[in-house]
Amino acid sequence: MALVAGVDSSTQSCKVVVRDADTGALVREGRAAHPTGTEVHPHAWWDALQAAIADAGGLDDVAAVSVAAQQHGMVTLDESGEVVRPALLWNDTRSAAAAVDLTAELGGPDEWAAATGSVPVASLTVTKLRWLAANEPESVARTAAVCLPHDWLTWKLSGGTSLDALTTDRSDVSGTGYWSPSTEDYRTDLLELALGKVVALPRVLGPAELVGRFGAGAGDNAAAALGVQAQPGDVVVSIGTSGTAFARSAHPIADGTGIVNGFADAEGGHLPLVCTLNASRVLDATAALLDVSLADLSDLALSAPAGADGLAFVPYLEGERTPNKPDSTGALHGLRLDTMTPAHLARAAVEGLLCSLADAIDALVALGTPVSRVLLIGGGARMPAVQRLAPAVFGFPVVVPSPSEYVADGAARQAAWAVSGAGSAPHWSELASTSVEADPTPWVRERYASVRELTATR
Ligand code: XUL
Repeated sequence: MALVAGVDSSTQSCKVVVRDADTGALVREGRAAHPTGTEVHPHAWWDALQAAIADAGGLDDVAAVSVAAQQHGMVTLDESGEVVRPALLWNDTRSAAAAVDLTAELGGPDEWAAATGSVPVASLTVTKLRWLAANEPESVARTAAVCLPHDWLTWKLSGGTSLDALTTDRSDVSGTGYWSPSTEDYRTDLLELALGKVVALPRVLGPAELVGRFGAGAGDNAAAALGVQAQPGDVVVSIGTSGTAFARSAHPIADGTGIVNGFADAEGGHLPLVCTLNASRVLDATAALLDVSLADLSDLALSAPAGADGLAFVPYLEGERTPNKPDSTGALHGLRLDTMTPAHLARAAVEGLLCSLADAIDALVALGTPVSRVLLIGGGARMPAVQRLAPAVFGFPVVVPSPSEYVADGAARQAAWAVSGAGSAPHWSELASTSVEADPTPWVRERYASVRELTATR
C-alpha cells in the first residue's frame, strides 16, 4: 500500500496526516502547536513541523508529501537562504495604510482586481512588502527572495538551500497580490511597486507536479477544498482563526469591490473566496467572558430565542478584513435589562458570527456562484449551536462533514494525485456527514444589517 502525507501549517498549529494513497484511509497523524501572535519567526513553524512529523511516526515510508499552510504570510530570505526577519501573518493589520496607498498608486480597486484578482488589504503579501519598504529599509536591502509559508516549509523539507529551488503553487501565489490568475504570470512590476525592487520568487508548479517526493502544496483554503472534495454547487464555509467562504469556479474572478478575492484553486481552476478576520475566536472570547466552556456556550445560545430578542453582536473584535475595516471594533446593540443575560449574549455571538459569514456567501452568490448546499468545516463548526443555527441564518441547507483535518487531508490528496500521474485527483471515500436544515430566520440578518455599520474605531 502506497502512503502519502499532507501537512497543514496553520496559524495556530501544525498537523500532519499520513493516508493510504488509493483509498484515503487515515494511517497515522501528528500535531504540534505554533506560537501565538501575528508576527512569527518561520523557524518556529519548522520546529513545529519536525515535532508533528515525529508525532506522526515519521515520513520515511511515504511516497510523496504536500504542504499546505496559512496564506499570504511574508517570508523574506537573504542571499544565503537565511530568514531576514520574522514573518508577518495574514491577520497582521499593520499594513492597512500601505494597502490604501498601493490601491491608489495603480489607479484604483478595479485595476488591482483586473491585474491580480484581488484588491489589496492588509492581509495580502504585497501590502506587507510595502510596509517593509517604508519601515525597514535595512531588511529590504538584505532581502533576496520572498515566499509564502508553504513554499518555505516545502523548500526546507526538501533540503533546499539555493533560492532557485523555491517552489509554490497557483492557489497560494494567487494570494500574494503580484501574480495574475488570468495570465498565470508574476506581475513583477507590482512587486517592485511595493518593495522598491524585484527579488527572486518561487517557481509556480502545476497542481499535480512533483519535485523529488514533494507536491506543489497549496494555500490552506484551496487544500480544504481538495480535502472535502468540493463539487460545483458546494460553498465551503470554514470557521477557524479566519472565517472563509469559497467555491470552485472554472473562470478567474475579478471583484473590484474587493469583497471577493479571485484566488486560483489547487486543481487547475479558480477559487473565489471571502475571508473574515473574526471567526472561531469570537466564540472563544464570548465563552471566556461568560466564564463557561464552549459546550456550555452552545447550550446557552440554544436556550435563547432566534434573534436574541433584538440583541445584535457585530463581531469585528480584531478589526475586520471583509468588510475592509481594519480599525473597527466589535459592537453589541440592543442591550436591555431583559437581554443582558448570558443566554442572549451567547445567542447574539453565534448569530453575529454566522451573519458575517452569510454576508460572505451573499458576495459569492452576487458574482454568480451557484449554491446548492454549504459545507461547514473548521473548529468552530464543531459547536452544536453553530451547526443548528447556520441553515437558519444562511438560508441554505448545511452539511457538516465529520471532523477531520481537511487542510492536511487535501494536501495528502494532492500528493496522491501527483504520485498517480492521473488527470485529476483520486476520489477518496467520503467521511460521514450530518445534514442540517432549518427554517430561515431572515429577521436575524435584517437586524444585524441595520447595525453592522455602527461600529466604533479603535
Ligand atoms: C485567506 C486567509 C486565511 C488564511 C488562514 O485569504 O487569509 O484564510 O489562509 O490560514
